Amino acid sequence: MSQDSIAVGSIAGAPSSSTARGLWSSRWAFFLAATGSAVGLGNIWKFPYITGENGGGAFVLVYLACILVIGIPLLMTEVMIGRRGRANPEGAMAAMAKAAGASRHWRLLGSVAIFTGFLILSFYAVIAGWALAYAPAAALGEFAGLTGESSGALFGAMLGDPVKLAGFGTLVLLLTLGIVALGVREGLERSLSLLMPGLFVLLLVLVGYAATTGHFGEALHFLFDADFSKLSGQSVLVALGHAFFTLSLASGAMMAYGSYLPAGTSIAKTAIMVAVADTGVALLAGLAIFPLVFANGLEPGAGPGLIFVTLPIAFGQMPFGQLIGVLFFVMLAIAALTSAISLLEPTVAWLGERFAIGRLKAVLLTGLALWLLSLGTVLSFNAWSEYTLFGKTFFDSLDYLTTNLLMPLGGLGTVLFTGWVLSRASVQEALGIGQPQLFQLWWQVLRWVTPLGILVVFLHSMGLF
Ligand code: PFF
Repeated sequence: MSQDSIAVGSIAGAPSSSTARGLWSSRWAFFLAATGSAVGLGNIWKFPYITGENGGGAFVLVYLACILVIGIPLLMTEVMIGRRGRANPEGAMAAMAKAAGASRHWRLLGSVAIFTGFLILSFYAVIAGWALAYAPAAALGEFAGLTGESSGALFGAMLGDPVKLAGFGTLVLLLTLGIVALGVREGLERSLSLLMPGLFVLLLVLVGYAATTGHFGEALHFLFDADFSKLSGQSVLVALGHAFFTLSLASGAMMAYGSYLPAGTSIAKTAIMVAVADTGVALLAGLAIFPLVFANGLEPGAGPGLIFVTLPIAFGQMPFGQLIGVLFFVMLAIAALTSAISLLEPTVAWLGERFAIGRLKAVLLTGLALWLLSLGTVLSFNAWSEYTLFGKTFFDSLDYLTTNLLMPLGGLGTVLFTGWVLSRASVQEALGIGQPQLFQLWWQVLRWVTPLGILVVFLHSMGLF
């Protein structure tokens, strides 16, 4: 890595420590990392069940529209701020604000994003642990002959066991911490270049298997026939919220990853590729899951239990179910791990740069704090399930705080900063959208449509209309 390659494309106000930071070796490496971040529990666990609950095709269309007008503009913005600021999200926002002559308090948007990612990881690791726990269960044939009731009981027994939950959650955290401790090239890039192709191959195998069930057509109709009568106002808001989560927005991840992006890469093109890959995986996950659901006469609108309660019933009934079950949960665990890495990196980069401590020390400190916090989520499914604040358990509160409050507010602040504080010319140059009309369209969407869209979700989730 040459110092020149870092200096080009960053702004004058960027911290001088930036020269000591790592960089992705190529645009492809960034693409893998950002796609790894985006593709996670959101795509394989959440997208299929919210599509199932919201009636299928019409919901998918609305979701795609949200990705286009909210997700992609914000994704480009975050990557751009990271690359121009060449620092952790807080440092990058501070550098951008300084260069634009704006208040230094804008840096708080970066701080909030880092904090959001940290909080999400504390519960994301626990849920990822469920996938790790289900892979050996599938291998040991525990799904054989499951009925709706016994499958629910199996899942309930896992949730009721704090030691098991904490054990698997800890395992996910340790893997994540280990990879991040090794650094951008040796840890993140190296592991992602193995994990991402593995994830993709597993997904294709599963879709291939699903195509042999004879119910693939039904799944296609379910996902792509748009019946708007099934779409409620609430569904639109769910789609909007999910666009944020699935593209890893407003949690520091994309800004941190953008800060390692070599100069000269088109942010616009790469961001679109990431969004397309993320959406492609979500749709493929649907095509892997729904044929099994239909083939086994199960309920597509089963909600959050779709993967952990409904699918095991299918795995227990179908030919090769034991093998397919293992592959499925291993794939889910890999997808979650590559997202967890991106949730950890912003905090570690921030601690390292802000307090000038080594990466290992930053990883250990963050790991300890995360682990303690993750126990709150573990206990909220069992010993603490009765303790609620405004009717929400510890886990529900964290989920609500991050997904419904911090993400929309942080995202809103970031688009307003870019659209109304930074100069049009500097944004155009940084993004690399050469075509003037295309940039003009993007700029107007960013200034008006994106913030208004976010505001609508936010106000609704606050119950204000
Ligand atoms: N995008 C991930 C998913 O769909 O599972 C979740 C996520 C990762 C959210 C990283 C936020 C983030 F910073």
